[in-house]
Amino acid sequence: MTVYDGEGAMPRDQLLAQVAGKAGAITLLTDRVDEEFLRAAGPQLKVVANYAVGFDNIDLQACTRRGVLACNTPGVLTETTADTAFALMMAAARRIAEGDRFVRSGAAWIWGPLMMLGQDVHHATVGIVGFGRIGQALARRARGFAMRVLYHDTDRPTAQVEQELGVEYRDLEDLLRESDFVSVHVSLTPQTRHLINAGRLTLMKPTAVLVNTSRGPVIDEQALAQALQQGQIFAAGLDVFEREPEVHPGLLACDNAVLLPHLGSATVKTRLAMADLAVDNLLTALEDRRPPALLNLQAWEHRTSTA
Ligand code: DGY
Repeated sequence: MTVYDGEGAMPRDQLLAQVAGKAGAITLLTDRVDEEFLRAAGPQLKVVANYAVGFDNIDLQACTRRGVLACNTPGVLTETTADTAFALMMAAARRIAEGDRFVRSGAAWIWGPLMMLGQDVHHATVGIVGFGRIGQALARRARGFAMRVLYHDTDRPTAQVEQELGVEYRDLEDLLRESDFVSVHVSLTPQTRHLINAGRLTLMKPTAVLVNTSRGPVIDEQALAQALQQGQIFAAGLDVFEREPEVHPGLLACDNAVLLPHLGSATVKTRLAMADLAVDNLLTALEDRRPPALLNLQAWEHRTSTA
């Protein structure tokens, strides 16, 4: 067994060398599990357990072709990530990070009726793009703030779920037009890359706040930086970026952007729960049992039919 105890991800060359001949691997979202990785691992590899719910770093088809089980960590980080999204809504709308920077700058100030005015969160309309577990958890928080909740997704929940959560479906364009807050919760796929682009940003209100805790490439950062600079929208709260850890210089220059280093699930309890689930996925697969959070059922079916 090899354990990498350095900060962050194992350097690629080391990862490719270390995975050779292994039966299983726990990977981070910064590790690319592609043909090169699978070739380097060799035929003994049975399972890749990703330490993340997002799995855009994994070539699922390539795993399935080679009969490698791929797993992720759904569920255990839902509430924590929804907390982060709500925190970003609040921080961006009420200028919390900007206010903190201002006080620390030592600039002279005195209370004034027009000082650092923001946007109300309570009783506003939030549009949730991607209505899976995390999107729905955000909807529950929003209802606690007396917000009206709109959502968009390619899969619609049942009418009963809509009713229980008190949410209304909109197509994406209408959601962008009507919302005071837009929070993005879709997986990154070829279809969702730059889902929020220059054209769609123009549909948003000049008082609107855009939040992203999903994956950076879902938003065209260049277009967003321009929209923020030109006052096309009021503010943004971003936990993820197109080319992490790089952040678009245009965004760094925007006082109306709250920027976090991809820490949506970063609490002690949640990261431990993710570790437990990743290890459970790994060990279960190594014992030739179906892992609890399997992504490619086809690989499992193939394995069991040929066993
Ligand atoms: C995930 O799990 O996909 C997050 O981005 C990190 O927790």
